[in-house]
Amino acid sequence: MTVWTAAKIRGAKGKERLACLTAYDYQSARLLDEAGVPLILVGDSLAMTVLGYADTLPVTMDEMLHHTRAVARGVKQGLVVADMPFMSYQASVDEAVANAGRFIKDARAGAVKIEGGAFRKPLIETLVHNGIPVLGHIGLMPQSVRATGYKVEGRTPEAAARILEDARALEAAGVFAMVLEGMPSAVAEAVTKAVQVPTIGIGAGPHCDGQILVTHDVLGMFAAFTPKFVKRYAELGRAMSDAFAAYRRDVETGNFPGVEHEY
Ligand code: KIV
Repeated sequence: MTVWTAAKIRGAKGKERLACLTAYDYQSARLLDEAGVPLILVGDSLAMTVLGYADTLPVTMDEMLHHTRAVARGVKQGLVVADMPFMSYQASVDEAVANAGRFIKDARAGAVKIEGGAFRKPLIETLVHNGIPVLGHIGLMPQSVRATGYKVEGRTPEAAARILEDARALEAAGVFAMVLEGMPSAVAEAVTKAVQVPTIGIGAGPHCDGQILVTHDVLGMFAAFTPKFVKRYAELGRAMSDAFAAYRRDVETGNFPGVEHEY
């Protein structure tokens, strides 16, 4: 059994490609773990996939802690990474350290994820010095949606250079890996060649060291929209609707419960 730590993820660079996914509950975390997924992210996408919000901004520390605890109970081998929600780390380094500490200490996460580039260097250094492994996240940053909208980043030479600079700053700050979201493949490839830690792409093309997707997208369980970069591996949303409708029909027509279900 391979037990994935932040150090082991860092060491995978150039050796193995990392297939990462999100989880928000015990059962799916258990199944992801049994499938050998090395990094399981309790993403703040929880806000949209599970809690029904329009974006990731409203999800709270308490909600993220609750779901991280459930995921951690289901995982034996993978590295559980807790996504720090909007405004849990922006106001001050002290508050960020206290909140990150709750994910590690109370919720049993193995690492935290933080959105932001070079300007987050002091915070990331402080977390890492305090024994909290950090997964970086640059490119399209959903927590900045009010400022930037949802758009592919790094399309101009200047914007691509900024992403490269951000990636180098995160590496220098001590992240064990970084998510590259929503950027041209060529930019993600340049970052992947420039840094010694694994890059984990989402909407960033095939040249990253690993990939991550939102599990609800992969399973066909998120109806609101499907981004271009998603590949669906199942249609569980449709299967669930069919099952609910069949159950309703059975109850309404007296087909369920049958004699085999009686005491
Ligand atoms: O919240 C999330 O699910 C993420 C991803 C990188 C998929 O941040």
